[in-house]
Amino acid sequence: MTTVLKLGGSVITNKDSPETLDETALDSALDAVADAWQEGGDGDGRGDLAIVHGGGSFGHHHAAERGVTATEGTRNARDAVAIHDAMSRLNREVVGRLHDRGVDALPVGALSVASRDADGALDLPTRGVERMLAEGFCPVLHGDGAVQSGVGVTILSGDDVVVALARSLPADRVGLCSTVPGVLDGDGAVVDRIDRLSDVEGALGGSDATDVTGGMAGKVRTLLALPVPAHVFGPDELDAFLDGDSPGTLVAGGE
Ligand code: IPE
Repeated sequence: MTTVLKLGGSVITNKDSPETLDETALDSALDAVADAWQEGGDGDGRGDLAIVHGGGSFGHHHAAERGVTATEGTRNARDAVAIHDAMSRLNREVVGRLHDRGVDALPVGALSVASRDADGALDLPTRGVERMLAEGFCPVLHGDGAVQSGVGVTILSGDDVVVALARSLPADRVGLCSTVPGVLDGDGAVVDRIDRLSDVEGALGGSDATDVTGGMAGKVRTLLALPVPAHVFGPDELDAFLDGDSPGTLVAGGE
């Protein structure tokens, strides 16, 4: 049973201040991960869990400063590496804190191996991640830069990494832990289950949509295309998700 879990950048960092962790939130998320990892697998203390984390105040800050987005690339290698290095600093924090909790975490940076074609289709080789899992390690990937044909280096979001991983491992479960308790409807209530985008389009795509809800519509569209169920939930529900429950919103694309 392979699980891919994304820890959103705004969950584990303080988005208002460049390169600042949200120590409390990060530590409590990693406590939950460590518990699940120790209990998982075949009772040998090695769960089948791949982690992906977002950028928060590490990646986004550096990307914005250099005008690099998911579609606007840079041909300046120094800029690309500055963004990647910031993400690596965050990744080192996550990996190191997992080691402190007894989790055999290994860092995986996508910039060196991931690429997109001119239409944006992502190629992320995952054989190494599969072998890490088979050897009892916990791979920790992250949003990063990725080279794209004709564009230079663009931003590869953690969500894109999750989707690529979930498809090719293949994963049995996908969880996105973000700052909201799930996908919210127009009244701010958590939607239990989404089978198609039209279920929630009204609530997510309205003219007064903020960045967050706009981002959520894109997330839902991506998750619906996955071959496995995905769960969107808040940090308080991370334990429940890792225990096998279905907190927050189930995006049932693969069912
Ligand atoms: C962003 O990844 C990666 C970089 C900016 C390099 P995400 O887009 O997945 O990050 P969050 O979770 O929204 O912060």
